[in-house]
Amino acid sequence: MVKISTSILSVEPEDATRKFYDLEVAKTDYFHIDVMDGKFVEANTEEKMYEYTNTIKQISNLPLDVHFMVEDVKKNIDKYLSFEPDIITFHYEALKNKEEIYDVIKYLKANNVKVGISIKPATPVEEILEFMKHIYLCLIMTVEPGKGGQKLIPETIEKVKKLKEYLDREALETFIEVDGGIKVDNAGILKNAGADIIVSGSAIISAGDMQDVIEKMKKGV
Ligand code: DX5
Ligand code: ZN
Repeated sequence: MVKISTSILSVEPEDATRKFYDLEVAKTDYFHIDVMDGKFVEANTEEKMYEYTNTIKQISNLPLDVHFMVEDVKKNIDKYLSFEPDIITFHYEALKNKEEIYDVIKYLKANNVKVGISIKPATPVEEILEFMKHIYLCLIMTVEPGKGGQKLIPETIEKVKKLKEYLDREALETFIEVDGGIKVDNAGILKNAGADIIVSGSAIISAGDMQDVIEKMKKGV
């Protein structure tokens, strides 16, 4: 069964606490926290996500799956370490060279955080293969990072398959996470392509019955 990481990006401030409770009841596996700095992507969610994470930590023990769409990766890691996130994912495109990437991997591991590396739709999967044996997951963006509610880019599904083949061939246990435009009707395609963790925002948050949507996505039907 795939795991579901619910993006809280589209949660409205006035019903945030209630939504977070409901999401736990609805059996989300993770809270997915989308941190955007207004530089790596246009939107800036720094303040909102920091507040939301604070609220979540007060009411829930569910693991945090933090997705940084930021230029200054180190600064943001330091900001989020106090929340004891389970996973921190940063963008391959945000760092200048391999040395910086290995440096961040080491830093996260030293702080007991599982490491994720994400790639945008235009970045070929081949560019990040060498890091796979050192990290916990690879997040393949299925939309252009920056906002919720977009349509999944079909070409990205091939990237999931390619990465899955590579991981199987190398006998690596690195997880594949997918994020953007995922709903009940396309979750199964991603699961079959090799995804282990599905991030979904608007499809879950706007649903009348969040538990039903999460259940269906987990089964991949
Ligand atoms: C996009 C974010 C996603 C996104 C998910 O930049 O990383 O987590 O908001 O939301 P939906 O499921 O609405 O595409
Ligand atoms: Zn995300």
